[in-house]
Amino acid sequence: MEPIRAIYPGTFDPLTNGHLDLISRGAKIVDELVVAILRNSDKGTPLFSVPEREEMIREATRDFGNVRVATFDGLLVEFAREQKAKAVLRGIRAISDYEYEFQMAMMNRKLDPELETLFMMPAEKYTYVSSRLIKGVFNLGGDVSALVPPNVVERLKQKVPGKRK
Ligand code: PNS
Repeated sequence: MEPIRAIYPGTFDPLTNGHLDLISRGAKIVDELVVAILRNSDKGTPLFSVPEREEMIREATRDFGNVRVATFDGLLVEFAREQKAKAVLRGIRAISDYEYEFQMAMMNRKLDPELETLFMMPAEKYTYVSSRLIKGVFNLGGDVSALVPPNVVERLKQKVPGKRK
């Protein structure tokens, strides 16, 4: 049988423990998980460049034998096709995520009926964690060390000088 490959796409600006939790759950149920950073995000100016995000995710996932990090541009379904992936993995933290995720999953299905979307829930302790909140709290001097991997805390300190936590 062909190995089952899934794509876990996102902006990852930066990677959080919620993302990492989902990566570890996803990696257990597929043969290969490709964490894919969107290069042309319309979310405004990112804090970290794409190569920085790539490096942070690589460092944080190096103990997983079946996780690979990549970047993509344009349509996710095209990238999934190129990668011969059968599924897209997305996390749902709360009901508020559902509408957006449902729309994306349905649009992706319209674009490629063969590609499935798998939804998984992160651990309860990370249900309120988002990259946006992490940046906001860190910027105001808050301690985010329990919510992002240690290498991300270090990068945040380098990126936002003067913040020590
Ligand atoms: O971490 P995010 O920002 O919620 O991830 C969003 C992402 C990257 C999964 C989504 O924006 C995406 O897939 N963009 C690629 C463009 C695309 O395929 N659009 C059509 C599907 S709605």
